Amino acid sequence: MSEKKIVVVGSSNTDMVVKSDRLPVPGETILGGAFRMNPGGKGANQAVAVSRLGGLATFISKTGNDLFGKQSIEMFKEENINTDYIFSDPKLPSGVALIMVDSNGENCIVVASGANSSLCKNDIDKARKLIETADILLMQLEIPMDTVEYAAKMAYEKGVKVILNPAPAAFLSNELMKCLHTIVPNNNEAEMLSGIKVTNWESARQAADIISSKGVDNVVITLGSKGAFIKEGNSYHEIPTDKIVAVDTTAAGDTFCGAFCVGISEGLPIIDAVKMANKAAGITVTREGAQSSIPYRNEIKKSSIIK
Ligand code: RIB
Repeated sequence: MSEKKIVVVGSSNTDMVVKSDRLPVPGETILGGAFRMNPGGKGANQAVAVSRLGGLATFISKTGNDLFGKQSIEMFKEENINTDYIFSDPKLPSGVALIMVDSNGENCIVVASGANSSLCKNDIDKARKLIETADILLMQLEIPMDTVEYAAKMAYEKGVKVILNPAPAAFLSNELMKCLHTIVPNNNEAEMLSGIKVTNWESARQAADIISSKGVDNVVITLGSKGAFIKEGNSYHEIPTDKIVAVDTTAAGDTFCGAFCVGISEGLPIIDAVKMANKAAGITVTREGAQSSIPYRNEIKKSSIIK
């Protein structure tokens, strides 16, 4: 296993989590279980996944000049993540996410972006050398779209593989799509990008065809407990997951993306990188919380494709 440079650009949040039997409907108040405060944010979760699974992770992000921000940076250091490019916003608070998790492990999340919303092109410029010499640039959409587009172009022009997890779902320009090595939406995000309701392998295939027609060669659609669908160039693959009882699905997608990048950076074929990602995400859903649930490399080693 050789460590490859994986740069993650994205959000850092503190997650405020309550578990309840079911998620409330609009206008309803329900009583839940204990309250927990956990480190989260799609960008931060993905950086932690990369580092725990064997990549050399640098995280480019922005926090507020407050306790939550300072705590997050300390935790990233403990995770062996390079924090040289975590910027601080003098006015905005650090990002916070309100999360409800039901008894099936399904969740509902609202993010108050705070300082994540001010991560800008100027910050990306400060990390230009790092981005241009990375093996992989991994991003999500909890930071401004023009920052994502700017970093993607910078990396793409130097031959760096750009991998995008388009979460939360948003419209993507064809210009951004053309910079991507792989796009990794879940079923809801794939629906938003393609107009196809993704419920099974066949609808995933239709959605992948539409998404790839916008200029991206590789599309990996995650389908929760079903597994993941791959469109790689002109080939299609269905990769089911093991049967797992989910406790909390928070950060399963983030773990998948981090693991997928580590696999690709180590030269695994896309199918095997997805198998590794399925395995890692499968462990995440059996545990509570975001970063607290992400596995280490030795936990996924049992699979024959993973060294
Ligand atoms: O993907 C899970 C993450 O989404 C949570 O940790 C929360 O912070 C939101 O960003």
